[in-house]
This record gives sequence, structure tokens and C-alpha cells, in this order.
Amino acid sequence: MAKKKIKPICGKNGKNSSSWEDVAPVLKKIWDWKPKKANMDLFNQYIKETLAKKELIIESARRFGTPQYILDEEKLESRVKLFCGAFRRYIKNSYFFYAFKSNDLPWQIKKVKEMGMKADVSGLFELQLALKIGFDKIIFTGPGKDNEELTLAIKNCDRVIINIDNINELERLSDLCKSDELLKKNKNKVRVGFRINPDNLIMQTWSKFGIDPIELKKAIEIVNKNKNLEWQGIQFHCSWNMNPSKYLKNIKIVSQLLMSLPKEYLVNLKFIDIGGGFYPEGTANLAKYMPKGTLVESLKEQCDDPSRDFGFNPLEIVNEETEPIENFASEISEELKKLFGTLGKELDVFLEPGRFISLHSSMIVVRVMSVKNERSVITDGGVSMVGDYRYEIEFAPIINLNNPSYDLTKKIIYGPTCDPNDYFGKQYFGQGIKEGDLLAIPNQGAYTFSCAWKFIKPIPPYVLMTKNKVLLIKKRESFENRYGACKF
Ligand SMILES: Cc1ncc(COP(=O)(O)O)c(C=O)c1O
Repeated sequence: MAKKKIKPICGKNGKNSSSWEDVAPVLKKIWDWKPKKANMDLFNQYIKETLAKKELIIESARRFGTPQYILDEEKLESRVKLFCGAFRRYIKNSYFFYAFKSNDLPWQIKKVKEMGMKADVSGLFELQLALKIGFDKIIFTGPGKDNEELTLAIKNCDRVIINIDNINELERLSDLCKSDELLKKNKNKVRVGFRINPDNLIMQTWSKFGIDPIELKKAIEIVNKNKNLEWQGIQFHCSWNMNPSKYLKNIKIVSQLLMSLPKEYLVNLKFIDIGGGFYPEGTANLAKYMPKGTLVESLKEQCDDPSRDFGFNPLEIVNEETEPIENFASEISEELKKLFGTLGKELDVFLEPGRFISLHSSMIVVRVMSVKNERSVITDGGVSMVGDYRYEIEFAPIINLNNPSYDLTKKIIYGPTCDPNDYFGKQYFGQGIKEGDLLAIPNQGAYTFSCAWKFIKPIPPYVLMTKNKVLLIKKRESFENRYGACKF
């Protein structure tokens, strides 16, 4: 079917949508937006938990300065137990590979290792970190692995499994594995998995990742020709899942794909890796009310094929009801049982959670530097601490520790950089915000510290909070850290 052209986005009267009549109500909606009742209940719980630790947070700010990230040891433990516990109950041969990219703080990585997690890495530094910290099982996934990274993985192939992303990468790996130099050093075969993109054939959004399913047979044949390589597993990853449906669909596709292969190709198959993407509860999302969200909706409406899969439903994104992780575990285990039945053997099940473990485990703490006017304040930390403009579409609970409340007060909480979009939010829990007040923003541990921008300000320090003490676990970035390697 020929594709219709996407029409330009128009306002109500067919005028260009940049007209003020169209934009003004959207802006008003953003300003007036409040989380849903269900989310308010959750946020109330976060406020209560944060206030219970108020004295320690104040002590930490006094001793280590603001802005800062704080890792809450108890929270981290509870997230790991919640996730791994749920899946272990349903899938006995499950292995949990913590996605370093969600938060690469060495202390956190070491802690999750002590709790039994394995390592999921995506680049040179993450791989070096996993080896240094002493992980015995490391999965290496990423769409652009270079030869330096592949060589390090080969040298440590007793510990590292490489999830191959594309045929060119596989051919490069295969060539590297022929090198006598490398072969002398290790007696093991280099184990590979293939990341497949089950959606490749039907949509564009995630087509960057993974081997096209129709190329799987060719990929296995390249491996089979090299005596130093062994194909052991299949992987997929899909992000931001509030329910298990995408996993179930992908496992079905994997099942069909594997059954389409000659039986002898499957003899060494040992694992299925279902990736990460388990969305944590309590992140209210404003997408629908934002110009960006409006745009996506319009595009969806105007798309010629209503069943076309964008990889996510833009309308669903605003539905903040995340199913309990227990539901994911039980439904995924049922679908896996069907796969194992069809295959005639059980596989190890690898999971790569990042956000689910990291999000609730850390908070951001900033201090109010100036009260600009009725509408806004400026704090000493901003979006450089998280490395994107997420607060345009996500709601982060900001708590004024000096004058807290369970009610929201309107005020734009700006960061300190020369960027007009540098803000944490447009409301805070509390009252009477004033210069010097400490603001805590819980649930900011995922894709924040690991994505932080070096824009203007130093990367803040990281503090560990245990039951009754605070401890500096990463110093604030220094001038030397940032410019030491530069030629002047
Ligand atoms: C291959 C892979 N595994 C795991 C993850 C972690 O995902 P999440 O943090 O959503 O659990 C990602 C995130 O992009 C990924 O690309």
C-alpha cells in the first residue's frame, strides 16, 4: 500500500499551529497541570519518606555542599530485592544484569553485585568498570562497538558475552577472533548472543538496534564458520513498559524465529535475554499536554495506517498506571514456558533492568539561590545534573525541606545555567520558598548522574545515605578532572 504523505500540523481552523490561539490553551494546561489522584497518593508517600530523612539530608548538604546527588542505601536494596525477588519466584533460572547506563556510580554497581546482580555494559568505560569491580558474568550490548571494545571483551571472554548488534560488527569480531595474538591468551570460545529487533520489519523508531530477523540465519552461519565463536543466545530490548504486553509479543516472535531455523543451529542455544525497560511506578508524565506530545498525537492521527506501530502509544504514555512488577514476572514466565515447550529445552533467562533499580534509589538536593519574583526561583543545581529536558514532560516531586507541605504551590524552580529551559518543574510541595531553602527531589537516580552535562557547572558530588549517617562516595568534579587532559 502506498503511504500517504504526512500533512503539515494545522490548528483548529486549518491555520498554522504556531498561532497564539492554539498555543495559549496548551501553555495554560501546562501551568495548571497537576498529577492524577493515584500519583498524588504515591507522591505523598515519597514526601513522607523524604521528610523522615530530613535531618540527614540537611547534614549532608551542610557537610558536602549543594547541589548534590544522594544515594539511599536502603532504597537501593529494596528495589533490587523487589525486582529480583519477583522474577525469581516465577523463573528459577533467571539472571539479573544491572544496566550500568542507568547509573554508573561505582558504589552502586558494587552494591548491586553484592546483592547477586550481574553486569550489563554498553561501552569501554562500563566494561572496564565491570571487570575492575570483579563481575563474573558481563553482557556487552550496544549498536556501535569499536575494535578496542571488542578486543577487551575477547580478552575477557570467560566473563563477557557479546550481544551482537549487526552483521558488520559480527564480521569485525570474527576477524579479531582469528588473531593469533588474542587466541593464545584465551582457551575459551567467544560467546555471542544476537540482539534482534522484532519490530524492524514493521516500524522505524527502533530500527537502529539489532539484527534484522531475516538476517539471523546468515549471522549464525558466520559464527559457525569461525571455530573460536559460539552462538549462545538471543536478545531483544524494548523501553518504557508499563505492562508486560511488549515482552509477551517479542517472546512469541522469538519463538517463531527460532522454529524457522534448522534444528542443528539451535544446539548451543543457552539463553534468552529479554532486556530492560521495566518502567518504575510513580513517574507522572505530562506528554499529552506538551507541544511535543500534541505533535506526536497529531502525527499519529494523520498517519495513513491506523495500526502503524510507533513503538509506543503516545496516548498511553500519559497513563501513569504501571502494573506491579509481580504481574510482569508471572505473565512473562507463562510465555517463556510456551517458548521452552516449543523448543523442547529450557533456556537461561537474562534480564537487564536499569531504571527500575536506579530511579527511586537516589535524590537530588539543591539550594535556593534567589527568589526572582512571584513566579520563579533560581537554585544552584539544574538540568545539567540529569542531562536532558525531561521535566518538560515528566513530573518530579520537589519538596521544600524548610517549609514542606503535601500541597503543591506554583513556582518555576529554575537551575543556575544560561539556559532558559533549565528548570526542575513548575510546582513544589511546600510553602513560602525563600533564599537558602533546601529542596529535595526524590526519585532522580536513573539516567541522571550517568547522563549529566558538563555544561558550565561542575558535576556535583554523590553522597551515600545509610540508616543513620552520610558519607561522600564521589567528590565534586574538579577543574583538573575536567581540563587536566587538555593542551593549553
Ligand atoms: C540493551 C539495553 N538493556 C537494558 C537497558 C536498560 O533499560 P531500562 O533502564 O529502561 O531498564 C537499555 C536501555 O536503553 C538497553 O538499551
